[in-house]
Amino acid sequence: MIPRKRIDIRWADLASGLLASVMPGDPARAAASVESAWRTARGNLACLSVRSGFDALLSALQLPAGSEVLVSAVTIRDMTRIIEAHGLVAVPVDIDSPTLAVSRAALERARSPRTRAVLVAHLFGSRMPMREVVEFSHKNQLFLIEDCAQAYTGDGWRGDISSDVCLFSFGPIKTATALGGAVMTFRDPALRDRVRGGMSAWPLQSRAAYAARLLKYAGFVVLGYRPFYSAFVAAMALAGLDRERVLSASVRGFAGGELVEKIRRRPSMPLLVVLHRRIRQGVQPSVARRAERARQLAKRLSDAAPAMARPGAETAWHSHWVFPLAHARADALIAHMQAQGFDATRGASSMAVVSATSGECRAPQAETLFSQLLYLPAHEGMTARDIERLAAVVRAFETQSVAAGWPDAQAGNIGR
Ligand SMILES: Cc1ncc(COP(=O)(O)O)c(C=O)c1O
Repeated sequence: MIPRKRIDIRWADLASGLLASVMPGDPARAAASVESAWRTARGNLACLSVRSGFDALLSALQLPAGSEVLVSAVTIRDMTRIIEAHGLVAVPVDIDSPTLAVSRAALERARSPRTRAVLVAHLFGSRMPMREVVEFSHKNQLFLIEDCAQAYTGDGWRGDISSDVCLFSFGPIKTATALGGAVMTFRDPALRDRVRGGMSAWPLQSRAAYAARLLKYAGFVVLGYRPFYSAFVAAMALAGLDRERVLSASVRGFAGGELVEKIRRRPSMPLLVVLHRRIRQGVQPSVARRAERARQLAKRLSDAAPAMARPGAETAWHSHWVFPLAHARADALIAHMQAQGFDATRGASSMAVVSATSGECRAPQAETLFSQLLYLPAHEGMTARDIERLAAVVRAFETQSVAAGWPDAQAGNIGR
């Protein structure tokens, strides 16, 4: 079975983290090294996770209760949970599926007199153009937060210089992961200092907790290799366990209990050591390899099944962190792929569509996209031949579906 994704970390990175976890060292100094390695002329801040930083930011902003935050409609569920935990209201802004961008018109539609801030996420490894979002935010005096968690590649991009805050994650499934950690970049260094001040009362992540994480993910690195993953799949089946559940439960960052309580920690010294190392490594070789595979797959699919909708097919910039597809029969396609040895998934279960409190559908494109979303394996661990075979398997599914008379077999129906 070809695994869905690889954990993007090397043995030497894991070893450096384990070594740091038994060495003396000052977390404040380690954080300062990370912040200076981040190299922006803005204010940088190292934190335990994007969610921790976002939570501390909302505390520092002290927006009036009931204020609305416009949120690009697909993001991880915890981001909206954090907004709500601060007594604020998340209002979805629809995204355009082919470009994965939010338009100025969509932002205008979502705005109300209570709107105070905007949070937009670059999705699936793409980077949306920010000009319209910046203009809209500045014109309406809204605080702009750019979520770059899925779009980091190590190429020196630090988000839009006009965003008030940019968020970068180094969580376990991210590019150049440090198995945790995040960096925030602030337009206003004084606000950075206030956020840092708020975090200073939080307890420190324990070294033991981070070391345990390193060991656990060493196991996942091994699972990224085909024979081990196949053995794991077989073992799960034998034990009657739901592989999807087991995987998503074990990679969930802050599982169980109160989210806010769990994210309120400062990063440990060894985590900061690994984070520093990963940032200094710059462009990741894995990125070029996976982007090459993804482009190859996109080309094969557009030849084989031109009506199939690929969210992000028209993005201005894409690093193909994951390879999403929208399909009216997503579950059947996944079953077909898995039977042929490709671990396609609806996975990434922490992603969700932001729902409007009124219950009405405020983001129709995002809703449709999400209801049909699946991810195909297209990563650095695959060969060009794997991709050819994968495309052939998808093509065979389409042919069978058409023959079986599924009228909307290819209908992504998510715009253009
Ligand atoms: C869009 C987006 N925002 C925020 C996060 C949270 O990042 P972290 O795990 O660093 O809290 C993620 C993580 O997957 C994400 O994909």
